[in-house]
Amino acid sequence: MYKSLIRPILFKFDPEEVHHFTFSILKNFGFLAKLFLPKPIEDKRLEREVFGLKFKNPVGLAAGFDKDAKLFNELSDLGFGFIEIGTLTPKPQAGNDKKRLFRLKEDSAIINRMGFNNGGVDEAIERLKKNKNVLIGGNIGKNKVTPNEEAVDDYKICFEKLFPYVDYFVVNVSSPNTPNLRELQDKKPLTELLSTLQNLNLEKPKQKPILLKIAPDLTDSQLLDIIDIIKETQIAGVIATNTTLSRENLVSENKFEMGGLSGKPLTKRSTEVIRFLSEKSGKAFPIIGVGGIHKAQDAIEKLEAGASLVQLYTGFIYEGPELINEINREILRHS
Ligand SMILES: Cc1cc2nc3c(=O)[nH]c(=O)nc-3n(C[C@H](O)[C@H](O)[C@H](O)COP(=O)(O)O)c2cc1C
Repeated sequence: MYKSLIRPILFKFDPEEVHHFTFSILKNFGFLAKLFLPKPIEDKRLEREVFGLKFKNPVGLAAGFDKDAKLFNELSDLGFGFIEIGTLTPKPQAGNDKKRLFRLKEDSAIINRMGFNNGGVDEAIERLKKNKNVLIGGNIGKNKVTPNEEAVDDYKICFEKLFPYVDYFVVNVSSPNTPNLRELQDKKPLTELLSTLQNLNLEKPKQKPILLKIAPDLTDSQLLDIIDIIKETQIAGVIATNTTLSRENLVSENKFEMGGLSGKPLTKRSTEVIRFLSEKSGKAFPIIGVGGIHKAQDAIEKLEAGASLVQLYTGFIYEGPELINEINREILRHS
């Protein structure tokens, strides 16, 4: 019903307007969605225990959709096994000028240069206090005005403030839309950032898993560095991958917009990154696989490549909420 009836209407309007519109519909009439949508699949065989956390199923919502933690309870009701909020920054910020979100329909893709628009970590915390038992990842970043030399402080602030309210953390140094952010993926600054956060974590009576979210555009040698850094800093795992700067084989007219590309053109590369990390590390840490999952088989391939869990964003926009059940059904078929 989503693809034949709802999507054609939504896709006639500006993507960012549609995002806010569907948000308010789900917020106010989420109970109606429950009437129309198939019930989320619940099955013991879908449950996963990864980095010490129990997931009701391995299909999560990727960061960037519910940046400000406004809708995690309703999104969880659609069947997601976990919801990642953020990227959150210490202070609220408006993000880049509009227009900054583009559909590439013929490529089943999106280009975004949102630039970490968010209401800041304090506001999100007030909403997280209303969590009805949803497993939440807190994706954290730095404010645009904070120079890279002081970035560690921004991540520390977010980590400390969010600690009581999220189940795991994601250190985002891979968004292409905050100037120079990706430089923090280099060995020296990244080791410093992750070990600082991990040391803060170790001071707590009970630690929370810290994951690193990486770009799909890293070279093999950079990926090998990432493996070393994970082992050295002893953080819990990796999310692979964020959006790409690559523009290979695109046909849509929006293909030259600046920003990060997500969706189908990313499927193969993000799976390659997962496989590389899993094989070269000897499965030393769990990986959450994300990037271009538009059908159940895409998720299965990521799991077979070494991911323990998967996340959706662009596929959720293009295929609708039925995709969650579709993937879980296929996972059951493979179990
Ligand atoms: C509009 C939009 C906003 C995003 N914002 C964030 C973000 O704030 N933080 C982040 O880590 N990833 C962000 N992402 C990246 C997604 O979480 C995901 O890693 C990426 O889109 C690849 O998955 P997909 O092909 O399923 O969309 C964003 C993606 C999109 C399309």
